[in-house]
Amino acid sequence: MTQTIAGPETQVDSELGLPVSWYFDPEILEIERRELFAAGPTYAAHICRVQRDGDYAVLGGQQAGRLLVRHEGRPQLLSNTCRHRQAEMLTGTGWMKNIVCPIHNWAYDLNGRLLAAPHFAEYPCLDLERTDLTEWNGLWFTGPRDVRRQLSPLDGWTELSTTDYVLERIDEEEHDLNWKAFLEVYLEDYHIGVVHPGFRAMVDPTDLRAALQAVGGERFFCEQMNVRWPLPPAATPKFAEYLKVLNDVLDGRRPPFAAIWLCLFPGQLVEWYPFTMVVTTYTLLSPTRTRLRSEYYFDRRIAETRRDYVEIGLAVLDEVTGEDHMAAQTLQNGRNALWQRGENAQGPYQMPMEQGLRRFHDCLREIVQNA
Ligand code: FES
Ligand SMILES: [Fe+2]
Repeated sequence: MTQTIAGPETQVDSELGLPVSWYFDPEILEIERRELFAAGPTYAAHICRVQRDGDYAVLGGQQAGRLLVRHEGRPQLLSNTCRHRQAEMLTGTGWMKNIVCPIHNWAYDLNGRLLAAPHFAEYPCLDLERTDLTEWNGLWFTGPRDVRRQLSPLDGWTELSTTDYVLERIDEEEHDLNWKAFLEVYLEDYHIGVVHPGFRAMVDPTDLRAALQAVGGERFFCEQMNVRWPLPPAATPKFAEYLKVLNDVLDGRRPPFAAIWLCLFPGQLVEWYPFTMVVTTYTLLSPTRTRLRSEYYFDRRIAETRRDYVEIGLAVLDEVTGEDHMAAQTLQNGRNALWQRGENAQGPYQMPMEQGLRRFHDCLREIVQNA
């Protein structure tokens, strides 16, 4: 196997990207699955999915098969699988007094406790499985890691508030890519000037307020990009329309930021844009196949009064996301070619624009090496 390393001979592993094999090797994927994804935190839902007692939402992504329900003012995460013959009990969203299985009418209360099992002489003690939830900033998570403690360095960063949002859209799709290829694109700003003609016009890629954090071994990366001001002319028709509507919504004031990206290692991304939040989770299907689930939220007041902003906001997000997916696919294609030839190549990081990517790679290296 040949190895091509860009940069001086003295560079050490942590100064270079990951080996190509890490994007294809099932053993690496198994370590990532066990040591990273199973260790969480794993996103479940935003609080607005269940606003009143009795509201429920059947979840997807990594929480597929689970049911979020509000009971006594608090979200509960319950199994959506009946304890009798394992039927799926609910679909979509709605309101209910009790959970009633549609097959033989077993009924459970909103804590998951079995209330009724018709025609059984003896009462089976079979409650629904319940999963603990932890809240950070209106977002609920599962998993053994304490997400609040993990993200406590972000306390006081007021732009991250997600309290009064409503869900607009959910996308779920699969791609022939290693899961890391997606995150790698989101974790570096180096590509923005080349890949995003519309978005790059409104931001300065070197204007970073980076918060590189590693607290007690728990990891994340969060950064904010500010708006170039005054706004230059937009470079794509969708961004031209977006900037016009944004300017109108803000009455000519400068937007508080262009974008904030928070990545919880391993597989959660939370993005903020003016009046907008997108939560994306990645599910590992194989070394080269990944499922993405993105939930699009908008500020409630904007969603109720400015549908034009919601529509053009979603359109520019689709434009930028499409460009990012193309970039991730291009990375994967290059690595595929090397992998097929049995070769490896690792290149250096551009700092500070690839600092988030480097942090992510360092985290992975540490975990894989200690597994
Ligand atoms: S499968 Fe649910 S009551 Fe029988
Ligand atoms: Fe991008």
